[in-house]
Amino acid sequence: MDLKKLLSKMTLEQKLAQLTQVNANCLTVGASEDITGPEQEVSLTKADVASAGSTLNFENAAEGIRVQKEHLELDPNKIPLLFMHDVIHGYKTIYPIPLALGASFDTDTVEECCAMASEEMTVGGVHVTFAPMVDLVRDPRWGRCMETTGEDPYLNCDMARAMVRGFQKSGKVAACVKHFAAYGQSESGLDYSATDMSERTLRDFYLPAYKAAIDEGVEMLMTSFNILNGVPSSGNKWLVKNLLRDEWGYDKIVISDYNAFREMKALGFCETEKECAKLAIDATSDIEMMSPCYLQNIPQLINEGVVSEEQIDEAVMRVLRLKEKLGLFEKPYLYADPKAEEEICLCEKHRDIARRAAEKSAVLLKNDNVLPFNKNAVKRVAVIGPFADRVMLGNWLCHGKESEGISALTGIKGLLKNAEVLYSKGCLEGVNESDCSLVEEAKALAKECDAVIICAGEDYKMSGESMSRAELRLSPAQKTLIREVGKVNKNTAVVLFSGRALVLTDIIDDINALVLAWQPGTEGGNAIANLLFGEVNFGAKLPMTFPRSEGQIPAYYNCYRSSRPYEGPYGCWYIDMPKARLFEFGYGLSYTSFEVSAPELSSLTMNKGESIEVSVNVKNVGKMAGETVVQLYIRDDFASLARPNRELKGYKKIFLNAGEAQRVIFTISEEQLKFWSINNKFEAEEGSFTLWVNENGIVNETDGVKFNLLSKK
Ligand code: GLC
Repeated sequence: MDLKKLLSKMTLEQKLAQLTQVNANCLTVGASEDITGPEQEVSLTKADVASAGSTLNFENAAEGIRVQKEHLELDPNKIPLLFMHDVIHGYKTIYPIPLALGASFDTDTVEECCAMASEEMTVGGVHVTFAPMVDLVRDPRWGRCMETTGEDPYLNCDMARAMVRGFQKSGKVAACVKHFAAYGQSESGLDYSATDMSERTLRDFYLPAYKAAIDEGVEMLMTSFNILNGVPSSGNKWLVKNLLRDEWGYDKIVISDYNAFREMKALGFCETEKECAKLAIDATSDIEMMSPCYLQNIPQLINEGVVSEEQIDEAVMRVLRLKEKLGLFEKPYLYADPKAEEEICLCEKHRDIARRAAEKSAVLLKNDNVLPFNKNAVKRVAVIGPFADRVMLGNWLCHGKESEGISALTGIKGLLKNAEVLYSKGCLEGVNESDCSLVEEAKALAKECDAVIICAGEDYKMSGESMSRAELRLSPAQKTLIREVGKVNKNTAVVLFSGRALVLTDIIDDINALVLAWQPGTEGGNAIANLLFGEVNFGAKLPMTFPRSEGQIPAYYNCYRSSRPYEGPYGCWYIDMPKARLFEFGYGLSYTSFEVSAPELSSLTMNKGESIEVSVNVKNVGKMAGETVVQLYIRDDFASLARPNRELKGYKKIFLNAGEAQRVIFTISEEQLKFWSINNKFEAEEGSFTLWVNENGIVNETDGVKFNLLSKK
């Protein structure tokens, strides 16, 4: 396709339509003359909608084919629509939420999940998924924690690359990294609030994962709702034009978030939609999602000589290039295939992938000789709680349905052929539920059983976009249920569903065994059953810190040091509770135990441009095979700027049979020691560094091993 020739034939209105994205319900059959619902406020006309360049949130392959057919009949240039969708953790077969995938520390599993989703969305007619979301998060009050892979830039970069590979490796689907930038630092954990930080913090912590996705070849990038240091990302020329495009060399599509151009007015940054359009195009933002600023203002801005048509042409070319790259001009319906959609979605192979991912991402947080339950010995098992008979899909469930999934109750019934599995609701789901009238029944049941599983936590609808929480504790009813049942049966395990770090301090002492299942998706129940009864072992670690209290937030492991690190008068402490968090980043238990030897270095000095190796012996000293995550942390002891007390600079997930040992070797290069220095560039500084290697995130200062970085020879 000669794109330049195509562009030369297009009118300005047709070009602006290519830069406008409308929700599919504007295009659905029988849409009234006036766009109804939220679209009405967007004041899009039927003509605007008819010529739009892309759409989002359509139902399935058949709908996509119909909409594309109608669109091509209407569009004078016969330019096919791009179909986009939020396939965040599954299209129809839903795998664990991204925060859970972060806990897996297993990029192969993550890539496999995204490739599976890509296969399903391809036949579903999706061309672009609005994923991966790589916003670093340090505040569990923010509902969108569930979409992130946690608080660490190194892990987030690995996960971003794995997700881009998984989604895009077939070449049939494009991924879209979001939300650029630093949306995860929303003030007070409130969604759509301000983000404010130094450029240093931005570059050392919040930006790396977007860059990792771009270097992995992601085809699109979405800017974020938030202001960043006073300037909304949608119209932030420094962020998008200067840094993303000029400094990083990103020359593909930038799409706004939903109505975000226009929301620059609400942010007090623009007085008119005309100003929104000007700022957005000057920042080189291309596609406007569900608002009409470009359509209704660019022509006048061009007439006034304030915006040039060349700016529009550059944006339109980026859109046309992606349409060509995906093959849309030759095959407008691409791979949309209702029959294949029916056959491939939720097939056994995909369910297995989802189940294994759920097994690999659940974290064992406590186990006082309760788990694993013995599936051949138990005769009566009680499965209790508001989420026992629910399929906890996760908030971005796309086309997933609970009815197609496996609850913990169903999974445990399916596994235990020789035991009686009994259910009691225990209490209702509500986040502040205090009605305990169902507890007695649950207690009575638990008394007569060999093993008890309580499924508690937060409903998956309580995390996700616009689902911030100021308090992160279990409901009063859930706490009463856990306490009362625990009193009558010590053989009780709590399975916690959550899309964020919760505050468990006031209940943890009443729990003998605690499994964090996150929101595990379609096959969650089977995974939970396999884990609880020892069919598989735990191997996941926390990708974000669990604070002791909301008062500790933001709570993250790679924070800067204090001049008075001790707890006590004139020290760095809370006078009303211990400073330590409840569970640290990198923490997670197993049914077996691992011993990690002291690190050995190939050299205690490293010249710039060279590398050294650090190795440890890891031994499974328990009775069960299992996986663990061997973690390398490094601290820059002294630098031109204060550096964090430690940072993850490597990890390896390994499997060891009982009694087996393995040598694990990490390479340390200058690259891993770089930071945004006092000279405003990424560089490593000569001097002393300290490193630790462990498999549970717990670091004792005295275990550190020092090495020196020297200048080039
Ligand atoms: C939402 C989200 C974004 C999503 C988009 C399209 O508001 O912020 O993550 O991709 O709109 O649904």
